[in-house]
Amino acid sequence: MSSPGTLGILVGGGPAPGINSVISAATIEARTRGFGVLGIQDGFRWLMRGDKSHVRELGYDEVSRIHLTGGSMLGTARDNPTKDPAAMAQVVATLGKLGVTHLITIGGDDTALSSSHVDRTTEQGSEQRIRTTHVPKTIDNDLPLPDHIPTFGFQTARHVGAEAVRALSEDARSSRRWYIVVAMGRQAGHLALGIGKAAGATLTLIAEEFTAPHVPFGAICDIVEGSIIKRRAAGHHHGVAVLAEGLIGKLDPQELEELQDVERDDHGHIRMAEVDLGRKVKVELQGRFLRRGIKVTITNKDIGYELRCADPISFDAAYCRDLGYHAVRFLAGGGSGAMITVQNGKLVPVPFASMRTAEGRTRVRNVDPSSESYRVAREYMLRLEPEDFRDPAWVERLAEAGGTTAEELRARFLPPAPPAPPAPPAPPAPPTGATQEVRS
Ligand code: F6P
Repeated sequence: MSSPGTLGILVGGGPAPGINSVISAATIEARTRGFGVLGIQDGFRWLMRGDKSHVRELGYDEVSRIHLTGGSMLGTARDNPTKDPAAMAQVVATLGKLGVTHLITIGGDDTALSSSHVDRTTEQGSEQRIRTTHVPKTIDNDLPLPDHIPTFGFQTARHVGAEAVRALSEDARSSRRWYIVVAMGRQAGHLALGIGKAAGATLTLIAEEFTAPHVPFGAICDIVEGSIIKRRAAGHHHGVAVLAEGLIGKLDPQELEELQDVERDDHGHIRMAEVDLGRKVKVELQGRFLRRGIKVTITNKDIGYELRCADPISFDAAYCRDLGYHAVRFLAGGGSGAMITVQNGKLVPVPFASMRTAEGRTRVRNVDPSSESYRVAREYMLRLEPEDFRDPAWVERLAEAGGTTAEELRARFLPPAPPAPPAPPAPPAPPTGATQEVRS
């Protein structure tokens, strides 16, 4: 039987639990169908430099039992060939030299974009067509999949993150302190909210709550401060606030520059994990309380890197088997130019073009703050709410807990009442001399 071709597999972007499971499922299925399989090391890094030495053959033995392990046996990199047509041409030429006829990329939005460029370039160019598909991976859960479908790795990251926050909650209770936890997720709050909701954090704050393009740093601190005051008024001197790293992207550009030297990756994204939001919030809040004579112990903690290479939980291990299998099935059936999704157990390829904005960027799936799921999460948070200001005795207690006065508390935390609706227009005056009918 002649071989149907050679499948290349590569991984781009940050790691996510389940990468090895996809690699193993795809390798096994491709081998079974007679494909040769090449594992390409470090995403597009070497291909775009015309280097074909960072590649190895994969067979059943190489991938045996790796489906339950974290990390990526092929490494991963954020190198971006879409910025430079010459780099993309090198990628295509190097894949051609390696004899790659089919390509599976595993990654997030940026890798999906590179993958779609390979597909387009070889479809339109004189080179041999390389049939390409993308398996959506990211702990951020921010790729444009149907609402109920997670990107692989998200469920494991949420699980491991929630375990960490549960442990921190206990530590907070035992040692009478607050934790400010900043969870990864780029612009999207899925991971922060998923962790905060599952672990029962005191409150979780995500960028999607704010409709304005920018949020003052002080406004973020106000919300956490309100929760601390309310807990203190109820006699509790501990809690956990989970903040989404997406809040960093919402800060006023001026305030952001002041926070830290802002580093960017190859795709031009701010390296949010490098911006120490948690520490800034901690220092600001401790200062606010101290100025009012109250010492609050606060510890900040970032959560993200320790989640990305965790061993996949059963959900992701099984889900990634489906994704790896279907990616091969899709390519072997002549498909190309689409992202693999599994919906109700069935393969549903999503064309690359439908994942893009008009400007050509991959659409970001954000948390929908009007969803039932968000409303439930919000319901169980402890924040200062307008209702807290109805009972004057409770307001006094809150003020005392915050080392302030009732007036100041109201001025700072009670949102201004919405403007009164305009008075209805007066009925038109009866025409002069007309008799008005009187109804009883
Ligand atoms: O994998 C996505 C992600 O985890 C983001 O949430 C985060 O901002 C980013 O990676 C940081 O990764 P790196 O340090 O690899 O650029």
